Amino acid sequence: MSEPSRDKVPPYPADQRDAVYRVIAERRDVRRGFRPDPVPADVLGRVLAAAHQAPSVGLSQPWDFIVVTDRSRRERVAALAARHRDDFAAALPAARARAFDHLKIESILDTPVNVVVTCDRTRGGRHTLGRATQPRTADFSSVLAVSNLWLAARAEGLGIGWVSFFDERELAAELGLPSHLDVIAYLCVGYVDEFGPEPELATAGWARRRPVAWAVHAEEFGRRGLPGEEPVDMLADVVAAIAPPDAAAMAAARERQDKMTKPRGSLGELEDISVRLAGLAGACPPPLPEPACVAVFAADHGVHAQGVTPWPQEVTAQMVANFLAGGAVVNAFAAQAGAEVTVVDVGVAADLGPVPGLLPRKIARGTADFTEGPAMTRDQATTALVTGAEIARDLVAAGNRCLVTGDMGIANTTASAALICAFTGADPADATGRGTGIDAATYARKIDVVCRGLARHQPGFPDPADPIGVLAAFGGFEHAALAGFILGAAALRVPVILDGVIAGAAALAAVALAPDAAAACFAGHRSAEPGHAVTLSYLGLRPLVDLGLRLGEGTGAVLALPLVQSAARALRDVATFDSAGVAEKS
Ligand SMILES: Cc1cc2nc3c(=O)[nH]c(=O)nc-3n(C[C@H](O)[C@H](O)[C@H](O)COP(=O)(O)O)c2cc1C
Repeated sequence: MSEPSRDKVPPYPADQRDAVYRVIAERRDVRRGFRPDPVPADVLGRVLAAAHQAPSVGLSQPWDFIVVTDRSRRERVAALAARHRDDFAAALPAARARAFDHLKIESILDTPVNVVVTCDRTRGGRHTLGRATQPRTADFSSVLAVSNLWLAARAEGLGIGWVSFFDERELAAELGLPSHLDVIAYLCVGYVDEFGPEPELATAGWARRRPVAWAVHAEEFGRRGLPGEEPVDMLADVVAAIAPPDAAAMAAARERQDKMTKPRGSLGELEDISVRLAGLAGACPPPLPEPACVAVFAADHGVHAQGVTPWPQEVTAQMVANFLAGGAVVNAFAAQAGAEVTVVDVGVAADLGPVPGLLPRKIARGTADFTEGPAMTRDQATTALVTGAEIARDLVAAGNRCLVTGDMGIANTTASAALICAFTGADPADATGRGTGIDAATYARKIDVVCRGLARHQPGFPDPADPIGVLAAFGGFEHAALAGFILGAAALRVPVILDGVIAGAAALAAVALAPDAAAACFAGHRSAEPGHAVTLSYLGLRPLVDLGLRLGEGTGAVLALPLVQSAARALRDVATFDSAGVAEKS
């Protein structure tokens, strides 16, 4: 017998529903503009009661709330935070450090009351429903109490600033917490003059909000799409977003260059760079390309087995450790240029533990030997492309305004040579170089390996019109991921500075997938690898630096970063003849 039908619960009336969404949209993390007015006990009581209504795992209610008003205690807590703020600032790359200097990260003393939310991960005993299987759910529950508190406070007109610059043990000692309690949140609470329309970090350009469509997946991770929309193929989505440069912004940049207080054309190549940056951004002057982040994509290559390099394969993983420890040349150059270095494991043939700065995105433990068959499957090539594009998106959302390519993979110049031949039709003898330095016999073998690889994939293949097929045939995971990285940057109209021959080979794939991606690419340098010259002329890119470098890692591209930044800054800062009252040449 079927159940008698009942009316479903009606939604809240529209105005009440709107109020709920409004408080969610208008809640802000507030750090400035607090008023000294005390928070009345009944108001704080309502806010804490709202926090206490949060859901919790097994109804364990693991939170406690410590209300701190004592000035001297807050001074001690502020001193703890200041120390960690300084440590954090000291570890930042220069461009980030400058931006961080302007940020206020705590209002411990500016607010009349601080509320500490804690978590008791043992409360309720061993059989607390849900927590037995997922211990972290205790912390999640306390965070939900914070969320309730934050929303209720906003409805009361109270601002909240969450401070997390603490060593939790130091803070716990200051608050007299028993050892079974952990600090979840330190919140500064007070009335404010106003609530900003968007996160303060977004206003300051520190980071951007990701579009909700990037975060919603249908059925399985990766099938992105909002409810009611067809799931989008991310790669197709990224390619579709890549558009030609903005002609009006380019014309405005050219015109401005001609009016700037300098002889026309006297900045040479840098004038073109500034015009291209304006076209890419669709604005004149374009935003300064900083902060910048170098993404070093690391992977291993099956073709290493053919004896194309004297370096053992383990060096890839060892150098990844060196990048993460800050000891490689790219780290030194990036420190000098004020850029961040991040390392992406897309296919290193070793297990890499979790380390800050490492993005674990391993697709497989190295590719297959391309002289014996395709280096990777089509699916793997697509996954690597999407991975690279996602990393570009995430680094741009994190506030970077310039991306820089880096790479690490013993034997990757061999894979690059094969890719370059496949995309440009170059002869392997012209596109194959000595990489990190090899003797004549190894060099001859390397050319033969490239020839055999290309021959193996005949007839009708590799087909440059099928860039994913070409990447799968010869590429390293780092090549495919770098191609996706370039596409991701181009889709967001953010410049990407290319390093040497590996990035060049990847750019050939990116441009084959989306010709307008070339507009986002800036050739950092010309590497000593002969295949790189072939690539640059095929792409129509002029290198900024030509110092005979043949290291990779992103080193040549990082050297070019200040040049690209200077080109943008000149267009922005240099006075015109009119504005400076300087007479022009008659
Ligand atoms: C877990 C957590 C810790 C945070 N810690 C800090 C902090 O130490 N200092 C700070 O200035 N903001 C901190 N914030 C605030 C975030 O920067 C802020 O929520 C984010 O920029 C979004 O802005 P909105 O809250 O106004 O939407 C923290 C936020 C969360 C959720």
